[in-house]
Amino acid sequence: MSFRIQPQPPARPNRCQLFGPGSNTKLFAKMAASAADVINLDLEDAVAPDDKPQARRNVIEAIGDVDWGNKTLSVRINGLDTPWWYRDVVDLLENCGERLDQIMIPKVGCAADIYAVDALVTAIETAMGRSKRIAFEVIIESAAGLAHVEEIAASSPRLEAMSLGAADFAASMGMQTTGIGGTQEDYYMLRDGQKYWADPWHWAQTAIVAACRTHGLLPVDGPYGDFSDDDGFRAQSLRSATLGMVGKWAIHPKQIALANEVFTPSDAKVSEAREILAAMEEARKTGAGATVYKGRLVDIASIKQAQVIVRQAELIAAGE
Ligand code: COA
Ligand code: MG
Repeated sequence: MSFRIQPQPPARPNRCQLFGPGSNTKLFAKMAASAADVINLDLEDAVAPDDKPQARRNVIEAIGDVDWGNKTLSVRINGLDTPWWYRDVVDLLENCGERLDQIMIPKVGCAADIYAVDALVTAIETAMGRSKRIAFEVIIESAAGLAHVEEIAASSPRLEAMSLGAADFAASMGMQTTGIGGTQEDYYMLRDGQKYWADPWHWAQTAIVAACRTHGLLPVDGPYGDFSDDDGFRAQSLRSATLGMVGKWAIHPKQIALANEVFTPSDAKVSEAREILAAMEEARKTGAGATVYKGRLVDIASIKQAQVIVRQAELIAAGE
């Protein structure tokens, strides 16, 4: 399979996904006016069980009434282990206009979960004569989800993005923490009496990035719960960006600028990437496959690394 060219993910900015409960209508206009690239109106865990039907109605109305600009507009439905999810899908697809771009499926455990939602969505789209195909994004937030992450990434052409949901993931794995992302007090290495904190989310993130890159999806880091900790949010985001993730959720508006800052490649990084491409173009003219840039080796792999950064910067600039 390795002769195949790695598919490109959808060409849209996804630096920040702003969440708001579908039950809290006064947030909708503020969300629409924010600088987030993606809006996730929530019907799942931020909405109390008794509020589910009203939240559904609120969201359907807001999708039609609010001016969402050029944002990607997504609704998080309830999980397949609840009695609410099918009604979420039916009501959304039957009643929302074409402005709805995506539905987000939480707690996905295997490819068959996506198959089930795809079958329902496809039937309603056809019955309603909808011309725009609804995209899917999924949350990997269980042991099963991570164990089956690659088959989930391959499960449907509707799939565009995949996030790590740290809180449910930690619970499902039996991790001894109530933290949502970030540094965990008890996860450290000890050397000469000094503690060195490590990253308990690293493996899950890397597995998600690999599955996404294999199948042309956008890998996204999920929530950071402590919204008064800007430095912690930034540190978590920088790690995610370094591992290949393209964005992060915001569960409070103050996290939006932080995510946009980290997931927009800096001017210095973009200039360096362009200089590497120029240096390699010079090398190519002389027939060389490698050269020296600022005292270090750059070669044909460096072209691909530099292109990742330049492409991301161009994509973001085009969306602004
Ligand atoms: N989107 C847009 N605006 C938001 C917002 C959001 N998610 N959350 C808060 N705001 C607004 C508030 O309305 C307030 O506006 P104002 O200055 O006009 O009054 C301002 O930002 C400051 O809000 P603040 O008082 O600090 O927060 P809060 O107590 O009102 O709300 C939360 C805190 C966490 C309950 C709220 O941010 C929230 O519901 N977040 C989303 C939770 C969610 O969807 N979770 C599911 C995914 S994990
Ligand atoms: Mg969750």
